[in-house]
Amino acid sequence: MLSKVSRSLFMYASKNKTMNKAAKRWGLQLGASQVVAGSTIESALQKVRELNEVGLASTLDHLGEFVRNKVEAVEATKCNIKALEAIAEGGVQSQLSVKLTQLGLDLGADFCLQNMQLIMETAKRTRNFVTIDMEDYSHCQMTLDVLNELRKDFENVGTVIQAYLYRSQQDVMALKDVPLRLVKGAYKEAVGVAFQDKKEVDENFLNLIKLHLLNGSYTAIATHDHQIIAKVKSFVENHNISRNQFEFQMLYGFRNELQLQLVEQGYNMRVYVPFGEDWFGYYMRRLAERPQNISFAIRGLFSK
Ligand code: FDA
Repeated sequence: MLSKVSRSLFMYASKNKTMNKAAKRWGLQLGASQVVAGSTIESALQKVRELNEVGLASTLDHLGEFVRNKVEAVEATKCNIKALEAIAEGGVQSQLSVKLTQLGLDLGADFCLQNMQLIMETAKRTRNFVTIDMEDYSHCQMTLDVLNELRKDFENVGTVIQAYLYRSQQDVMALKDVPLRLVKGAYKEAVGVAFQDKKEVDENFLNLIKLHLLNGSYTAIATHDHQIIAKVKSFVENHNISRNQFEFQMLYGFRNELQLQLVEQGYNMRVYVPFGEDWFGYYMRRLAERPQNISFAIRGLFSK
């Protein structure tokens, strides 16, 4: 009951514009520095280097979502281009993840597409790969439309499918030629569009992973759930699926030991590394999905 209430409060906070704006001014606080790799690309690259040294690949995410005007969206586009260039110049092993609402999706799909095309041209030139994160349900179809447009010109772009949505099985089938990151889903969605029961989400998650793997498609399994990971391991063994066809992904600062264990066992493991000043919404969603993560916040209150 308590965790349901705290979950709703964190989700509310994640979308609250005033709190997000204030948090930008505070700088990284409340323990967020344990799960956000600093506010600049330089600080993030340093973390990526440390991850690479122990065999972990990464995907950088310049934090930010729901921009209010085109100037902010253009600025965010430039930051993402700069991140791709910094990855290439720094010679680190990192891809890029982006959120379309940061690139102006709410201000017009064509405008957002143009911004994405600029990012993709840089990604193509620097031989990198970009994953479009999936946001809340109201942006799902628009995100897939932008992806499909981009895929006409670029092979080095993929997206995320959320197992809690009823539509996801059809989406995975339609995207069988696209590298996908599969996740459980991080937003609060309505009964009409999404499974609410954790068991059903887990079951669908595993089914989607199997479906995409059996299609022969590249699959990123993004979860901290050791039970799901164990099931995936035995599924790929039983079906002789090459370890080059999939990777595990986890968020920066979560289950570090498990990340390293998977590397030691010879699996590809990628860490999602968020950075930037716009950290509040991301951090609140992490607290919402696992209220035990509040320990980060409590530790943060007592440490400098
Ligand atoms: P879940 O939170 O369901 O936990 C399952 C079990 O795993 C727990 O009961 C516990 O036993 C164990 N566990 C989990 N976390 C633990 C921890 N920190 N320590 C110890 N045990 C732990 N979402 C989205 O909507 N759009 C997106 O684009 C993305 N992108 C994304 C990228 C990456 C790399 C990841 C890892 C996740 C996302 N997500 C996402 C978030 C995703 O949808 C989901 O909300 C979170 O990963 C939480 O779900 P899990 O599958 O990790 O397990």
